[in-house]
Amino acid sequence: MRLVNGSSFLLLLASLLFTRPISIYASPVKRDVNVVTVPLKRLQQRTDLHPTVLLQQHINRGHRRHARMTGRRGPSDETLAENLYKRFNRIGTEPNHAFNRRHHLLLKKNVENDNPPSSNATAGFPEAALGGVVNGSLTPAVIPAAANSLGLDIEAHDVGYIATIQAGTPPRNFRVLMDSGSADFWIGGEGCQSQGGGNCGNHTLLGPKSSSSFVESGKRFEIRYGSGTVEGNLVTDNINIAGLTLNKHLFGVALSETVDFSGNSTTFDGVMGLAKSSVSQQMVPTPVEALASNALISSAITSYKISRLSDDTNDGQITFGCLDYTKFDPDTLVTFPNVNTQGFWEGDISSVAVNGKDLGLNARTAILDTGTTLIIAPAEDAAAVHAQIPGSKSDGDGGFIIPCTTNAVMSLIFGGMTFDIQPIDLLFAPVDVSNLTGDCVSGVSSGQIGDANEWLVGNVFLKNAYFSTDIAKNQISLAKPV
Ligand SMILES: *[C@@H]1O[C@H](CO)[C@@H](O)[C@H](O)[C@H]1NC(C)=O
Ligand SMILES: *[C@@H]1O[C@H](CO)[C@@H](O)[C@H](O)[C@H]1NC(C)=O
Ligand SMILES: *[C@@H]1O[C@H](CO)[C@@H](O)[C@H](O)[C@H]1NC(C)=O
Ligand SMILES: *[C@@H]1O[C@H](CO)[C@@H](O)[C@H](O)[C@H]1NC(C)=O
Ligand SMILES: *[C@@H]1O[C@H](CO)[C@@H](O)[C@H](O)[C@H]1NC(C)=O
Repeated sequence: MRLVNGSSFLLLLASLLFTRPISIYASPVKRDVNVVTVPLKRLQQRTDLHPTVLLQQHINRGHRRHARMTGRRGPSDETLAENLYKRFNRIGTEPNHAFNRRHHLLLKKNVENDNPPSSNATAGFPEAALGGVVNGSLTPAVIPAAANSLGLDIEAHDVGYIATIQAGTPPRNFRVLMDSGSADFWIGGEGCQSQGGGNCGNHTLLGPKSSSSFVESGKRFEIRYGSGTVEGNLVTDNINIAGLTLNKHLFGVALSETVDFSGNSTTFDGVMGLAKSSVSQQMVPTPVEALASNALISSAITSYKISRLSDDTNDGQITFGCLDYTKFDPDTLVTFPNVNTQGFWEGDISSVAVNGKDLGLNARTAILDTGTTLIIAPAEDAAAVHAQIPGSKSDGDGGFIIPCTTNAVMSLIFGGMTFDIQPIDLLFAPVDVSNLTGDCVSGVSSGQIGDANEWLVGNVFLKNAYFSTDIAKNQISLAKPV
């Protein structure tokens, strides 16, 4: 399917706007500071969807998410639609948006035509990640050796991280998106209806039919996401997280979900927010807080090893109550205060460098968010970063194109420790999937996200740092992963 021109373009735009791909447009942004959570939701993976459009979806989601986090008015639906439209028009003029070709053919073609990269350059966009770009599938994690830990399955090409927990009696498995940027826990409920019509699809649901310990609390909840709403009931039931059992835990079951959550291709059954419950819409303790208050873990600490699909190690892991010292170099561990007053996780960035050159960006802060894919920086900061990446160019809309073979090393300095981002992580997606050594869309993007000094820092960075949050001490730790 061509993305360009006339009715097919309008049809596609309409489908993007009004069906599952980016129904972030569906809900008006409220100014209410309590309306804050926009966890990562699955991006529509379409074989005919150009990577720059995927990028725009991520940028738009980041803007919405950030606006809600900071209680600011987000960009309007019209602005977001306009950004997408502009991006469409531009890619419509490009000859090689061959996103709809067969994966194996592309790989074959790429191998045949491969230009050997210079010795110290990145070899190009990793082939191992291409399947994730094209098909959005879930890559299972290995079972962690550490106690109180769950494997983090990788969604698509490092877009989201999903753990399996148990709920109900008898206990059944539920796949849950682990999100450091929100504070509500819900899974789909029996009888759940999709707001797009129909039921909540091929997901595991919880309710009185499947669980003898399920009890309604009589309270309702509603979470407004950038993509719409999840509504349902607060209930108590038994849940089990990494072998730790919380009996009669209070949480949400969704009875109405937007298609982003209800659709069969959505790889998770619910979302677990891991920020502080001060930003909870349900106004109940998070599972991690409950584990600590029930003395099942010694403190409300959540630690993440965010894995990289192309490493093929699938060793992503979330650990409750402590850090897993086998996952990082202890000599590089730094701990610093959480500067966010609402309940998100935000640290001071003391400086930003590219290839060791300090960009002179002072007094910046970063919200660290496992539910965001990209790094979204204020426009001038994003431009300053890319000015140091040879061969980069602005795409005119806040995005940047960089060579897939870039060897640029961007670094963020937290707590006095320099955390390098592997060049490969700056490659969000190849512009032309038949040329993995050509142009790539940068994983660092600019956004009108309000505060001139505030960054939203997602998995592009977090793949390069062991990340831990501590609610009691209100502090964040980072270390270099091993
Ligand atoms: C890449 O290699 C060339 C020659 O081997 C060297 O001059 C250059 O400094 C290297 N660049 C980086 C970023 O290491
Ligand atoms: C999707 O991509 C993954 C990761 O590359 C791959 O393992 C899987 O076989 C792909 N599935 C399909 C249906 O292409
Ligand atoms: C339903 O989900 C199961 C496991 O999650 C999967 O194996 C199956 O293919 C799915 N079916 C459809 C129709 O999506
Ligand atoms: C979702 O998958 C189920 C089978 O698990 C199937 O019955 C249903 O039709 C699917 N829904 C859609 C919208 O494809
Ligand atoms: C891939 O892109 C690079 C850089 O634009 C170009 O030099 C090369 O010829 C392209 N290769 C193919 C197979 O198109």
